[in-house]
Amino acid sequence: MTRMRFRRRTRFLSLNDYAPAARRLLPRALYAYLTSSAGEGRSLEENNAAFRRWSLMPRVLRGVAGRDTGVSLFGHRYAVPIGVAPFGAAAVIGFDADRAMARAARRANVPYLLSANSITPMEAVIAENPEAWFAAYFPSDRSVIEAMLARIGAAGFKVLVITVDVPVANPREGERRAHYTMPIRVTPRLALDMATHPRWLLGRFARTLAARGVPRISNITATPGPSIFSRRHGTVGGAEAFDWDTIREIRRGWSGRLVLKGVLSPEDATLAQECGVDGLVVSNHGARMIDSVVAPIQAIAAIRAACPDMMLLLDSGVRRSADIYKAMALGADAVLIGRPFFFSAILGGEAGLGEALSLIRAEFDRDMAYLGLRSCDEIGRHILVDRFAPGGQDPSNAVR
Ligand SMILES: Cc1cc2nc3c(=O)[nH]c(=O)nc-3n(C[C@H](O)[C@H](O)[C@H](O)COP(=O)(O)O)c2cc1C
Repeated sequence: MTRMRFRRRTRFLSLNDYAPAARRLLPRALYAYLTSSAGEGRSLEENNAAFRRWSLMPRVLRGVAGRDTGVSLFGHRYAVPIGVAPFGAAAVIGFDADRAMARAARRANVPYLLSANSITPMEAVIAENPEAWFAAYFPSDRSVIEAMLARIGAAGFKVLVITVDVPVANPREGERRAHYTMPIRVTPRLALDMATHPRWLLGRFARTLAARGVPRISNITATPGPSIFSRRHGTVGGAEAFDWDTIREIRRGWSGRLVLKGVLSPEDATLAQECGVDGLVVSNHGARMIDSVVAPIQAIAAIRAACPDMMLLLDSGVRRSADIYKAMALGADAVLIGRPFFFSAILGGEAGLGEALSLIRAEFDRDMAYLGLRSCDEIGRHILVDRFAPGGQDPSNAVR
């Protein structure tokens, strides 16, 4: 689908506009997979609400022509400090979504993280985007990890992210109510759900089957895994024995950059630093794992204080450019965005994600001007007003 066709048929003004369109397109079960959160949904609410603690303090008349939204991460200069979070099963839901997302991110020059829980072989994805990062779900089994490190390195990935916040799987209640399962079990109810969403069934899933065959989980182990309908599937979340010793071993065996995704505690951040980890994604997995968990925006400042020199990304609940400024003012180097980008890629493939990236990039650039900043290096605590602090002003005025 070309950018032109996608633009004519749709109208998205902000990242929040993608969910309703995706809801119309997708079978209930798949929409539930994308939107569900742990337990009562308190983490999900908090991911959004916690950003409201701060307001932004604009500055005027500072000459913001020629401002630069770029940021350097691990030696690469990206156009904006906004990356595409890893999305498991992307190419089951959107047509060729792993490749499409990799291409859109490359075109926009933003970080893209390929999930291990993906359908497209990692070698094909990195061919589309040589700067892609690989987001691994490693099982506890050391021999599988060793073989995977060799495969990821041979494919050419320079940044390895290990998602560490899923020691056990969480079958979310919203997914179960909507009859979503992985492996997919085609019950009469699921078949009806799919049949009553023909735009998705024919335009996405049938197209995938015709072009790529039955989807297989391709990147969890070093050899191609089982099909998404196979009962043998189920490795994600089977990492109960994975521990800091495993991270130390991985560090010894991986010469590229190493990032842990899903860290929220400053103590864990310090341990990661001691293990020689290069960066963290401060994340609660989009509120999908544990309920009533701390929101990353509440956790980031303490992690930055514990690890002043680490590369820190933040995700979970970032929807607006204001959220990005708040995250960066509190210590993040950049953010990742999940669901809105996933919806945009399902709806419009490469062009869809490209448009979503343009929207948030334009918002970020505009806000940079309103804040009187000329580059990301100028973002600091001084742009924040703490709504709960006496007098409102953030007590820490240090510019990073
Ligand atoms: C449908 C879905 C699939 C996801 N799959 C993965 C995955 O395979 N690996 C991973 O590290 N995180 C995964 N995540 C978490 C995201 O990478 C990211 O941390 C989260 O979506 C950020 O929150 P947001 O959706 O509020 O932006 C997934 C999230 C969703 C919604």
